[in-house]
Amino acid sequence: NKTENQMLIIFGASGDLTARKLIPAIFDLAKGGHLPENFVVLGASRSDWTDDEFRKNVVTESKHLANHVDGPTKKVMQDFCDRLFYHELSSDQDSDYSPLKKRIDALDNEYGTGGNFIFYLSTPPSAYEPIAKSLYEQGLHAETNGWRRLIVEKPFGYSLKTAKALNQALQQYFKEPQIFRIDHYLGKETVQNLLVTRFANSIFEPLWNRNYIHHVEITNAESGGVEKRGGYYDKSGALRDMFQSHLLQIVAFIIMEPPLNANAEEIRNEKLKALKSLRIMNDEETLHKNTIRAQYISSIIDGKKVKGYREEENVDPNSTTETFAALKFFVDNWRWADVPFYVRTAKRMPTKVTEVVIHFKTPHHQIFKDSGLQNKDNKLIIRIQPDEGILIKFGVKVPGQGFKVERANLDFYYSSLVENNIMEAYERLLLDAMQGDATLYARADEVEAAWEFVDPILNYWATSDAKVYGYSAGVWGPKNADDLIDGLGMWRNPSKN
Ligand code: BG6
Repeated sequence: NKTENQMLIIFGASGDLTARKLIPAIFDLAKGGHLPENFVVLGASRSDWTDDEFRKNVVTESKHLANHVDGPTKKVMQDFCDRLFYHELSSDQDSDYSPLKKRIDALDNEYGTGGNFIFYLSTPPSAYEPIAKSLYEQGLHAETNGWRRLIVEKPFGYSLKTAKALNQALQQYFKEPQIFRIDHYLGKETVQNLLVTRFANSIFEPLWNRNYIHHVEITNAESGGVEKRGGYYDKSGALRDMFQSHLLQIVAFIIMEPPLNANAEEIRNEKLKALKSLRIMNDEETLHKNTIRAQYISSIIDGKKVKGYREEENVDPNSTTETFAALKFFVDNWRWADVPFYVRTAKRMPTKVTEVVIHFKTPHHQIFKDSGLQNKDNKLIIRIQPDEGILIKFGVKVPGQGFKVERANLDFYYSSLVENNIMEAYERLLLDAMQGDATLYARADEVEAAWEFVDPILNYWATSDAKVYGYSAGVWGPKNADDLIDGLGMWRNPSKN
């Protein structure tokens, strides 16, 4: 794909995400030679910085860039700074947009960015609509001379209703194909590899259905707590923060039917169909039986006291917001009828790990009685992070008399393939947007379908007396979560191979 000359305008340029993720991603694109010849970044936000202060804060003196720069890249850094500009703007002030347009036009003329502009909204979601509107009023949405794209960060709404309202609001000012909703999990190599594993091999797909798969288990665990984001998180919780977006995107890749080809629209059409086939839980009994929420409580880890969730900064001391969510659900379609899906996501777990485990059924006729194989199914474990790779567990004969069976591992590590680090999610996704490829961005209808599934669970938790369990920081969640995995033993411990 070709990356045309263009300008990236970042709203919220003095914010944390810009310094932590966006600038390092663009810098790595520069290092890798992926930027077009004429390329400019214009940061816009409320701080009254000069161009040089912006360069200093997000590049030369930024701790987030320090480990991206070595001796030979010093020169790249200088060139990179020369392409960085800053414009002071209050995004909610209509009158600030005419000077912004003038600045954009001047830079466009001077640096030959071809009238191609990407607007990256790295701001709180409440600013999305006013910014889109003001850009529209300045004619900055119109693709008369060059293309225009708008990138927005999650959360895309707070509920089904607000997600729909946000989509409608944005679509008033920009056309859907111009809107890129970023979900950084889709930028992860291993998430994309789910599609390749399934559709570029002939050995998995014939088994990828209810006839051979017993259940699917997904774990997304973080060892960190809510850090400095208590204010945001307390209004959000694990289900909104991780499940509605990242984890349902993973689920969609696992359950979707093969698309006709790998084009953005074909893939997203299949994902939409997949998300629409999730069985919505809307009666109290089902919700009670199949959903669990919990919060971490204080604990001592490595001799240090770790705060409980309710003691975190900017968190309501009586908060019922979940930092652990576990769900059991079904997918109502031909391929997946009756196959349970178990998904859990949480903060303050023993380790940071995301994995998908496909548990296959045991052979329907056991000829090796007393083999030690009972209850040990074949597993395909897709390690999304860390130690990205794929592990297959299968039975082998223990040498010697009789037919004792042991589990053996066929283990692939991504690191064995790539010399350099895998491209970081933001870097990959930004490059895609710069090239106009929306395959790895969420479409409005997908986002709404995901909310349709999540909304009743959130309502149930908000309005019922569904218990909020506690779990000590540093353990795999509350014991009660094991009750979800009825009769299957326990959740897999991802720390054990
Ligand atoms: C973000 C969530 O979208 O994803 C955070 O808002 C979470 O709460 C983060 O920590 C996890 O991302 P990753 O790539 O570190 O797994």
